[in-house]
Amino acid sequence: MDATESRKRGKEMVDLIADYMENIEQRTVYPDVEPGYLRSLIPEEAPEEPDTYEDVVKDIERVIMPGAASPACTELETVMMDWLGKMLKLPEDFITGTHGQGGGVIQSTASEATLVALLAARCRAVRMILASDPQRPETGITSKLVAYSSDQAHCSVERAGMIAGVRMKKIPTEKSDKYAVQGETLRRMIQEDKAAGLIPFYNRTHSSPSPSEQNTLIPFSVRTEHTHS
Ligand SMILES: Cc1ncc(COP(=O)(O)O)c(C=O)c1O
Repeated sequence: MDATESRKRGKEMVDLIADYMENIEQRTVYPDVEPGYLRSLIPEEAPEEPDTYEDVVKDIERVIMPGAASPACTELETVMMDWLGKMLKLPEDFITGTHGQGGGVIQSTASEATLVALLAARCRAVRMILASDPQRPETGITSKLVAYSSDQAHCSVERAGMIAGVRMKKIPTEKSDKYAVQGETLRRMIQEDKAAGLIPFYNRTHSSPSPSEQNTLIPFSVRTEHTHS
């Protein structure tokens, strides 16, 4: 978009917002849509050809406004993160689909994403354990949780562990492995921790663009491991 068009479109957008505010009482307050309504209104895969600007604006009314009071942004985010996951050819586990457990969310920064993922994994681990052992005190579970990350990971990972109040262990890496985490090392740490009564629940097999990690870019993964220990 060149400067002339941005000026034109920017003005149109101001009009759109002002019209919305002026006529807001004519819109329904509660959305009259079911969860998942948006998925059928847009393509399943990211389009190869861009839409025209006019079509994008029309989609605001057609796709977003029916769920505007609440779920529309989350619905759009879910479907578009699936687009991204498919473009990256991520395994099905990482895609929400229509009934999947995967899917992505957009966070403002990498540090925030790291923290949110850890908090979500902690919550999930605690719930899973409580489901099979409801009498167990929650603090007793949290104090046993252990998370892992590469010793090459960005300091945001360690910080997330401090904020979440969980034990965080660094997986040692070697120059001879190009500083990539080795599955065997992680497996051994998990076994030792389980034997010591800890609950492994999260592994951050991710690389940040720190020089030593550039060659090991693996999609971020969160795994909870159910244990009765
Ligand atoms: C794991 C991780 N956390 C944090 C950062 C810092 O970025 P941000 O300012 O987006 O938190 C990076 C940057 O590469 C990163 O890879």
